[in-house]
Amino acid sequence: MVKPRILVTRKWPKDVEICLLDHFNATLNRDDTPLSQDVLSDSFRSYDAVFPTVTDVIDSEVMSGGNLRTKLIGNFGVGFNHIDVDFARQHAIVVTNTPDVLTDATADLTMALILSIARKVGEGERLVRCGGWTGWRPTQMLGRQITGATLGIIGFGRIGQAVARRAHYGFGMPILVQSRSPIDQAVLNEFKAVQLSSLEKLLERSDFVSLHCPSTAENHHMIDLERLRLMKPEAFLINTARGTLVKEKDLVVALESGLIAGAGLDVFEAEPRILAALLGRSDVVLLPHLGSATEETRTAMGMRVLNNAIAFFAGKPPPDRVA
Ligand code: DGY
Repeated sequence: MVKPRILVTRKWPKDVEICLLDHFNATLNRDDTPLSQDVLSDSFRSYDAVFPTVTDVIDSEVMSGGNLRTKLIGNFGVGFNHIDVDFARQHAIVVTNTPDVLTDATADLTMALILSIARKVGEGERLVRCGGWTGWRPTQMLGRQITGATLGIIGFGRIGQAVARRAHYGFGMPILVQSRSPIDQAVLNEFKAVQLSSLEKLLERSDFVSLHCPSTAENHHMIDLERLRLMKPEAFLINTARGTLVKEKDLVVALESGLIAGAGLDVFEAEPRILAALLGRSDVVLLPHLGSATEETRTAMGMRVLNNAIAFFAGKPPPDRVA
């Protein structure tokens, strides 16, 4: 049987690439150079499947132009807001993603951001490295206590719940939740969490606000100046979901005017570009989209794409089909 021709847009963990070559006629991206929109577009006419990732823009322009050969987009990532799934659906292209396997890694990193911003971990490390530390003193770099502080979680899917588990059982944090749909009381009880009736109420009552909702058109800029004004001046905003959930310029205004105490950000509106106004601030912790960045998780994500593709080309329903 002729092996399906697939294009992998970026370098993947070694073990997964070995499996890909085993199962498919795979074109890998060994030097990890981002592909241009033109190359991506051509690939839809010459490959049976394209395996992009969250930084590849797979819009209607990339896919349109006729002579489509691609029947499967196997996204390396759980978020698929960079793919025009409506266009894919209309043109009978199946789209899959990689849920579940990155839940723990992302929740771990969320806790790392909470700890880092509240306890000035980045600031302290920079002080030591630049030789500026003159010794211990009672009032140096005082942060805020995490234990017992209230955590507001916006979006209570897999990752939101994994964060709640860590925060509640590890740090004794009371958990508030906001989600569009009602959450099963048994799930809330697991973390002694309380679902609030509005986002506004959650913002007013939380010491940390952590975003875990999808990047839909509805959620675009859900955290803007008006909403930031509702937060306590000593509260922190944490974002490990998508940059577009936060109106970054408004966040800068909120930080500059002391409306909130700080922010821990792993994702940005125009990655990898970051507002200069954020780069210069010590009340933010900035990470390069590391949420799922562990060996174990990235390998599991790749295997998930592989298994979806194996099922698809065997004529079976791919387990993680999103369109
Ligand atoms: C995703 O999968 O959507 C993350 O942002 C990258 O792991």
